[in-house]
Amino acid sequence: MTKEIKRIDGRKSNQLRPMMAKVGVIPNADGSAMFAFGDTVAIAAVYGPRKLHPQHMQDPSTGVLRCTYDLLSFSVEDRKKPGPSRRSQEISKVTGWALEPIIDLGAFPNTVIDVQVYILQADAGTRTAGINAASMALAHAGIPMRDLVCSVAVGKQDKDFVVDLTKEEEDFKEGEGATDFAIAKLAGSDEFSLLQLDGKIRPEEINEVLKLASESCKEIYEVQKKALKEAVSQK
Ligand code: CDP
Repeated sequence: MTKEIKRIDGRKSNQLRPMMAKVGVIPNADGSAMFAFGDTVAIAAVYGPRKLHPQHMQDPSTGVLRCTYDLLSFSVEDRKKPGPSRRSQEISKVTGWALEPIIDLGAFPNTVIDVQVYILQADAGTRTAGINAASMALAHAGIPMRDLVCSVAVGKQDKDFVVDLTKEEEDFKEGEGATDFAIAKLAGSDEFSLLQLDGKIRPEEINEVLKLASESCKEIYEVQKKALKEAVSQK
């Protein structure tokens, strides 16, 4: 049973922000999608698979998944300086880790699949919204995938776990301190492809957190599926 706690925006602990998803938002890309959790809006574009250059980077045994994540300058309150940062490099990397298990890269030797994720508006949870958008964009690009990836962050409000935190909630550091646990899960199995914890969680709490995230992932998957179906029916 879900414990009733008071969140800043009145949501229940297991309640995601309103989600919005659309596929095919960038016509020149091979695949594209947008995904929003409330005021956090991500778009993802997929290009490829195409020959990887420079040639010495090519691997005849596998393709390469190259993910790039960034915030647009005015997506955040304090304008973000354009160009890569340590944060954007880290999130690019974890986005790739979250997505790699669903793609058979061995089927695309010597190639690269570029996944570019941009955050148009940020209110926390941007890496998770980006992963949701990227997973849909890969499917839209027709890349053979064994599943979709769904992603959500679980955090702590005092002693209670809550899903899909806003920036205001993330900044609320009373009680046990800030906890932000970004989780990505394969929709059709119990496999997790990303567990990125910032903060502290007790070992005995892990199962509760993963259960919360798994329930949220079911809702996210339905939204992703609906958007992909709509795109197919419009073709
Ligand atoms: O976005 P996510 O929760 O995945 O990652 P984070 O590094 O924990 O960032 C949390 C939030 O801080 C972002 O979603 C933005 O709302 C905000 N942020 C910002 O205002 N300016 C930045 N340069 C970076 C993040």
